[in-house]
Amino acid sequence: MAKALPTMSRTTSINEFFKSFSCIIITGASSGIGREILSRIENSGTAAQVFNLSRTAPTGLTNTLKFTHLTCDLSQATDLEKVVGELQKLMPREGRMLLVNNSGFGSYGEFPAPDLSHNLKMMDVNVRAVVHLTTLLWDELKRRGGQVATVASLAGFQPTPLMTVYAATKAFVLHWSVALDAEGRAHGVRCVAICPGPVSTNFWRAAGLKAPTGLGGQTSAECVDEALWGMVRSRPIVITGWKNRLLAFWSARLPKSWTAAVGYKVIQKLRIHPKA
Ligand SMILES: NC(=O)c1ccc[n+]([C@@H]2O[C@H](COP(=O)([O-])OP(=O)(O)OC[C@H]3O[C@@H](n4cnc5c(N)ncnc54)[C@H](OP(=O)(O)O)[C@@H]3O)[C@@H](O)[C@H]2O)c1
Repeated sequence: MAKALPTMSRTTSINEFFKSFSCIIITGASSGIGREILSRIENSGTAAQVFNLSRTAPTGLTNTLKFTHLTCDLSQATDLEKVVGELQKLMPREGRMLLVNNSGFGSYGEFPAPDLSHNLKMMDVNVRAVVHLTTLLWDELKRRGGQVATVASLAGFQPTPLMTVYAATKAFVLHWSVALDAEGRAHGVRCVAICPGPVSTNFWRAAGLKAPTGLGGQTSAECVDEALWGMVRSRPIVITGWKNRLLAFWSARLPKSWTAAVGYKVIQKLRIHPKA
């Protein structure tokens, strides 16, 4: 009888995945989903040089990781260009690259709440900075091969009242990432759009809400484990959580005006209240 080949466990595969890169660049690893991804990078035992771009530095890292924090406000294009200049001087010249576009934030309320400046900054961080950073690294990614993982959202699958601008930014990066994957494959660069539903992070407080108690949801650890498994397998779209996969399946197939109208009623009824 033929012996079954031993299968690598998911954790081992994720560790091997991180070990396959010489350079890993992440945005927003100071908190939430990004911090969890950074922990998994650290635990993998990778020898890669790891860089984080965000306004505050991640805390609690051990010395085993070759890690550099580059302070950057991604809403400022000049800041981003300056930091990428520093990054290009510091990063190793050869070997596969992983870029994780994770930084982002949201808002909740009737348009244009909370205000124009918040919405424009959100568009800058969630959309412009993602395209800008990826563009600055794209030639290098194509030369060396690798992956661009972008944290989109379940909200990117349908027009979402009360989160109109946020959901539209996520629809942009979702479509952009999937299209870029089609182009990048020929050059050895795969692109993965990660689409979480509600995850318990600082995101909700930053959006002016209490924790997403009415939405159920995942912990960062649950979300990131599924996201990384999708990245290992270079899935163009990774929706984390089976309930979210079901929601995305339907919302992508129903008429957009219908999902928006139903979504409006559902979101109003959910227990997600603005901060007192
Ligand atoms: N939590 C959810 O329910 C959920 C669901 C779907 C998608 N997402 C997406 O997941 C990603 C991570 O969010 P999270 O839930 O982990 O929230 P989080 O805990 O609030 O983390 C957001 C991260 O983005 C960074 N960031 C925000 N503004 C920035 C700026 N101007 N420049 C540079 N970095 C900035 C923050 O770093 P600094 O403050 O240090 O700059 C922080 O590390 C976001 O793209 C979000 O849209 C979240």
